[in-house]
Amino acid sequence: MKMSFKVNVLILFVMLVAGTACIGSKEKKQEMKEGILLVTFGSSYPGPKATFANIENEIRKQHPNTDLYWAYTSRIIRKILKKRGEVLLSPEEALNKMKAEGYTQIKLQSLHIIPGTEYNDLKETLNTFLKANPTITAQLGTPLMQSDKDMNSLADCMVTAFNKEKEEGEAVLFMGHGTHHAANERYARFQKILTPKAENFFVGTVEASPTLDDIEAKLKKTGIKTVTLTPLMSVAGDHASNDMAGEEADSWKSVLEARGYTVKIVLKGLGDYNDVVDIWINHLDAIK
Ligand code: CO
Repeated sequence: MKMSFKVNVLILFVMLVAGTACIGSKEKKQEMKEGILLVTFGSSYPGPKATFANIENEIRKQHPNTDLYWAYTSRIIRKILKKRGEVLLSPEEALNKMKAEGYTQIKLQSLHIIPGTEYNDLKETLNTFLKANPTITAQLGTPLMQSDKDMNSLADCMVTAFNKEKEEGEAVLFMGHGTHHAANERYARFQKILTPKAENFFVGTVEASPTLDDIEAKLKKTGIKTVTLTPLMSVAGDHASNDMAGEEADSWKSVLEARGYTVKIVLKGLGDYNDVVDIWINHLDAIK
């Protein structure tokens, strides 16, 4: 199709005006550009990939117009993924990338479970970044089990999910991570909140207390012989697959089977339950 010179000039003029308008709105946008940064420990396992996608999807549903970024706190996992060609940023790298892309308001949401070492390290990373970048506003949303109210909501989610999953007269054992940080007391507190709602649900940890022996002593008293194991972690990754459900003699599954229990496995992370993801989203929305 041949266009006349007049039409060509008109098109050029329209493009110029539109271009100027675009630059104008871009400048305005740069004055206040908001983004969300989701921060997790990370995982190199396939299951957690789907869980992270689910979390992202749920957040996108409620924040359709805000750009979303991810950061993994684990250096080892970032290294493993890099070898596979997947580039994941550390929180510091992600903050600097967002800064370079012109974000002025950053909402960080921790996908951690308790306010332990990793959460506090993240807080420090953010404080250092803010000191160096005083024109940027950034705040951090609290982890999943921050308050008793959160733990109450989480307990309700788990009771709903596992009363469907398990048969009458069976028990559920949750494997939390556990830490030497003072925040480890969250696991015992969660147990206290959980017990009145479901008396045969027990909360242990893989790396601290309560240990498997601690909760098995309580389980023994109930006379229950069939148990469901599931992680109390954001994703069902390495710990859930190996320390909880693995075939090695020291996994929770093997130990319990050796002690005469029938063991069922639910290999799902907390991020697979949309009502649990809502607790994290509430924390994100609590950021001013
Ligand atoms: Co660990």
